[in-house]
Amino acid sequence: MTEGVQTPSAFTPRVFSGIQPSGGLTLGNYLGAIKRFVDMQDSGVETIYCVVDLHAITATLFEPETLRRQTRELAAGYIASGLDPAKSILFNQSQVSTHAQLAWIFNCIARMGWMQRMTQWKDKAGKNQQNASLGLFAYPALMAADILAYHGTHVPVGEDQKQHLELTRDIAIKFNHDYGVDFFPITEPVIEGAATRVMSLRDGSKKMSKSDPSDASRINMTDDADTIAKKIRKAKTDPEGLPSDVKGLEDRPEARNLVNIYAALNDQSVEDVLRDVGGKQFSEFKPMLSDLAVEKLSPISGEMARLMADPAEIDRILSDGADRARAISEPILKRTYEIIGMVGA
Ligand code: TYM
Repeated sequence: MTEGVQTPSAFTPRVFSGIQPSGGLTLGNYLGAIKRFVDMQDSGVETIYCVVDLHAITATLFEPETLRRQTRELAAGYIASGLDPAKSILFNQSQVSTHAQLAWIFNCIARMGWMQRMTQWKDKAGKNQQNASLGLFAYPALMAADILAYHGTHVPVGEDQKQHLELTRDIAIKFNHDYGVDFFPITEPVIEGAATRVMSLRDGSKKMSKSDPSDASRINMTDDADTIAKKIRKAKTDPEGLPSDVKGLEDRPEARNLVNIYAALNDQSVEDVLRDVGGKQFSEFKPMLSDLAVEKLSPISGEMARLMADPAEIDRILSDGADRARAISEPILKRTYEIIGMVGA
């Protein structure tokens, strides 16, 4: 088992995570999520990875064809990054109705006040909360359902999802307490490694995000080698050279971000990277970083394009994953209904 997948819990360890098909994949999604999902699939623990299409419509309603393409593209991104559908279960959320069914139950467990405290709700709804969708408000209950429909015990995510995972724990605790059962596991977030918060290339205080209006702020998984090199060359830095130890990165968010990205891409610790590059100027380090990024990312974007040429094969993989996902989550939903007192369950 890998680090992070160790728990004294009575529940069989099971990894679950998801990504929204709400736009192109960024380097943040890759390093903070997908790459780590792939690393976990050989840990000896069952791994379940989802394209959360129901979540994707909470903030924006897409053209149907756009949503279909983004869903397939994300599935292709998972597979091109090394996710093996024979080892992991890979599917899209809307094909497995247990997610929405359990989410309803959790809507009745979670409290309005819990949801109102979510920073993602506050950020995404902005000043005009009255006009945000009810789905955006209830988003974290659906996320809890995603995980708990499988009795997921470990959830690899980037740092921005920490609060949602705390809410998932609160929902499990309240359900178990209110019904006097020990039915849902208390999920462990797995937020590890150098790249749990990849920052914008233009502003080291902002997260790298697919929704940032500036394309130069992020590396997209579909960017070609020239674009990657250009974005890294233009990335904001400070005038000093690179330090030889981690302490020297304090108060230097842009420098820290580039070193973190290098470390995560190269499977190295930040300490080891700094041992090698300490003392170098950015004019020397940036070409090293862009060569590394191109070396690691180009094969993935090439493979994504190849997979996208055969959408029927992607659909087949998702449908097979959905069958396997249903086989796990339907008995858990049935038992939930029994616990609650639904006749016929
Ligand atoms: P989403 O789609 O916004 O992001 C997917 C994953 O990528 C991580 N991530 C980052 N990590 C590091 N640096 C960044 N700049 C960066 N940007 C994104 C996110 O932390 C996440 O792990 N609510 C989730 C999707 C979800 C989910 C779930 C996750 C729905 N149900 C159940 C886990 C379990 C989300 O919006 O992720």
